[in-house]
Amino acid sequence: MENMLTGIRSTGSPHLGNILGVIIPSVSMANKNIKHSSFIFIADLHSMVQMNHINIKAIKNNTYQIAAAWLAFGLNVDNCLFYRQSDVSLVTELAWYFNCLYPYKRLALSHAFKKEMKKIDQSKISAGLFTYPILMAADILLYNAKIVPVGMDQLQHIEIARRIANYFNKKIGKKLFVLPNAFLQKKSMFVLGTDGKKMSKSQKNCIDIFSSDEILKKQIMSIRTDSKSVEEKKKPENDYIMSLYSLLASVEEIDIMKKKYIKGGYGYYEAKIALYEHIIHKFSSERKKFFSFMKNKSLLDHILFLGAKKAKSIAHERLNFIRKYLNFNSII
Ligand code: ADP
Ligand code: TRP
Repeated sequence: MENMLTGIRSTGSPHLGNILGVIIPSVSMANKNIKHSSFIFIADLHSMVQMNHINIKAIKNNTYQIAAAWLAFGLNVDNCLFYRQSDVSLVTELAWYFNCLYPYKRLALSHAFKKEMKKIDQSKISAGLFTYPILMAADILLYNAKIVPVGMDQLQHIEIARRIANYFNKKIGKKLFVLPNAFLQKKSMFVLGTDGKKMSKSQKNCIDIFSSDEILKKQIMSIRTDSKSVEEKKKPENDYIMSLYSLLASVEEIDIMKKKYIKGGYGYYEAKIALYEHIIHKFSSERKKFFSFMKNKSLLDHILFLGAKKAKSIAHERLNFIRKYLNFNSII
């Protein structure tokens, strides 16, 4: 059985993009996989790269939200390794080895880094943001993960992890690392936000199914549309309400909404209400479970502690194996 691994940053509450793109497909895989071949973690160390504009307390708090979301969607924590990245800090040692090996110039080509460079004030860019893909490669390669469920924005990061694995294997002359592959959900690998751009925790364009009914409704009401009146005929293609509805509803339901758009006499407000009601109904059980987990943070801490303990023992063994090839002593 091939190992599977994925992580979500603790930079906010998980949104519909995280849920459809990663959480749902990963839960289904992790629950079916052989025991302890799936690694699901909360990437709180990665969340630190934005410490200049993200409060450190929020990072910890958000780890609970991410954990509660995975559990609400039915992750069986007895079958997988479910942990906080910072609780298994051996990964940072591997990241250091990769830092020393991967050419600076190659890393500087990373799309994600170049994009961030354009977005934020350069004085706020940390070295951690630059080496972000290195830590991500270490997350994956430490556990020999072959299958990495992610959204489309992470493809280049997986490619960097493959390169590092390949480079290291060649240098050492032994297949120390498995080459990982991204696992993408065709329909939901790039879920659009309320503004029509990639839904992202940092963009304030999220549909956050774990927020209160009022906030969720507000977010849905803020979906950008053109200015056609209720009576006018509308185009279902390129419409952001329709694009979200299509990810959630059945073929028949989508067809009905499409027909209403084309016929006219159906306003965007009504379409938004239909989307809102659909979400509330579809995720009612997950929302209940989420709120109940959020009321029991000590349970979440306990679950993550047990997960970290198991992950640590695997990481420890793997790292000692890698250390041998670098002429370092074993960790005591
Ligand atoms: P965000 O970009 O919102 O901060 P993360 O970086 O924590 O979210 O992403 C966690 C996972 O969810 C990654 O695999 C990422 O590719 C995926 N993901 C994020 N946004 C979307 C989206 N809009 N559609 C599909 N997948 C997404
Ligand atoms: N970089 C990923 C993101 O922003 C989160 C992440 C960190 C990750 N390490 C990982 C995802 C390892 C998959 C595998 O979304």
